[in-house]
Amino acid sequence: MEYKKIVVAGGAGFIGSNFVHYIVKNHPNVHVTVLDKLTYAGNKENIADLPKDRVSFVLGDICDEWLDDKIVENADAVVNYAAETHNDNSLIDPEPFIQTNIIGTYKLIQACRKYGVRYHHISTDEVYGDLPLRKDLPGHGEGKGEKFTSMSRYKPSSPYSSSKASSDLLVKAWARSFGLKATISNCSNNYGPYQYIEKFIPRQITNILSGIKPKLYGTGENVRDWIYTGDHSRAVWDILTKGQIGETYLIGADGEMNNKDVLEMILEMMDQPKDAYDVVKDRPGHDLRYAIDSSKLRNELGWEPKYTDFREGLKETIDWYRDHEDWWKANKEKVEKKYAKNGQ
Ligand code: NAD
Ligand code: DAU
Repeated sequence: MEYKKIVVAGGAGFIGSNFVHYIVKNHPNVHVTVLDKLTYAGNKENIADLPKDRVSFVLGDICDEWLDDKIVENADAVVNYAAETHNDNSLIDPEPFIQTNIIGTYKLIQACRKYGVRYHHISTDEVYGDLPLRKDLPGHGEGKGEKFTSMSRYKPSSPYSSSKASSDLLVKAWARSFGLKATISNCSNNYGPYQYIEKFIPRQITNILSGIKPKLYGTGENVRDWIYTGDHSRAVWDILTKGQIGETYLIGADGEMNNKDVLEMILEMMDQPKDAYDVVKDRPGHDLRYAIDSSKLRNELGWEPKYTDFREGLKETIDWYRDHEDWWKANKEKVEKKYAKNGQ
């Protein structure tokens, strides 16, 4: 199914804007309406270079029922990236997470239900909680250990991940009871251009570029399953156009690495000594390991990641932050002050 008029909620954020770029580049017959509240994490600059006849922008909140109604009525499909997304922020103040991630999703799916519009829900692997570290498992090593599948139990750890889990459950219930034409995708950690500098990889790159020591939480043994954001965008497109209504697809690129190894790679690639970082206070409830089994997406929809070499994707990401200082510089001091106040 090819959709001609797509609403991308949260399309001025990191992954949402990458998805809008992906559509403009690869699907010339599709028009995108970005609906975004432009919170601290949203930036109109992320989509400013895209042609106005392909992408329109609406400043607004997905919690606004009247606005959702007006925008969804004219759409063929809605893809919802709009969310509060940072775990550390959710531990300081959960309220915006409850509002946007739960109430906002509820308002948006009600509008889709009313007009019979196709809805795709962007979610996260964090709804499944965490997995044991591979080193703690018998016969540890590459490729060993349990991974998340769409059958895994919901077991979120933080206010952020529990609000995302809640939104997934709303979507599942609306699909079953009201026939909402919905799919859900749960993706692992993304990296790439346009990621706000509070997040792990851009924080460390911009620290080094600013002459600040990178900051590692706790032991650095926590494992994340990294995927380049362009690969996530292609997967979402495949699910939107070829996925089975009512199904959940997990998106991941077999990119498991622990935080210490990622940080040391960044340091080495930016010509810094391997140990030039500070160990700071750990995150409360810090999830140990995420790992995605994406075989359903690969086998049923034929998706494959293009970026299988993390080093290559990381190099492009480092170069992007180096070349776009004007994009992040103004927020750097504010972000680091907030972390410092929190001992991180
Ligand atoms: P982000 O924080 O960079 O962007 C979120 C965007 O949503 C911003 O543009 C913000 O202005 C907008 N927004 C926030 N509240 C809104 C509201 N009430 N109404 C309208 N717009 C609002 O986030 P991201 O990292 O791009 O994540 C996007 C989605 O992908 C989220 O749903 C997140 O849970 C999910 N996800 C993220 C990752 C990751 O690694 N970053 C991985 C898996 C899934
Ligand atoms: O797994 C998908 C999730 O990935 C998304 O749902 C979230 O929106 C996204 O923020 C991300 O969550 P994480 O909590 O894994 O990402 P974050 O960038 O905050 O941290 C990644 C890891 O790095 C985590 O183990 C904490 C650690 N960390 C983070 C920061 C900011 C550090 O060691 N130092 C830091 O300065």
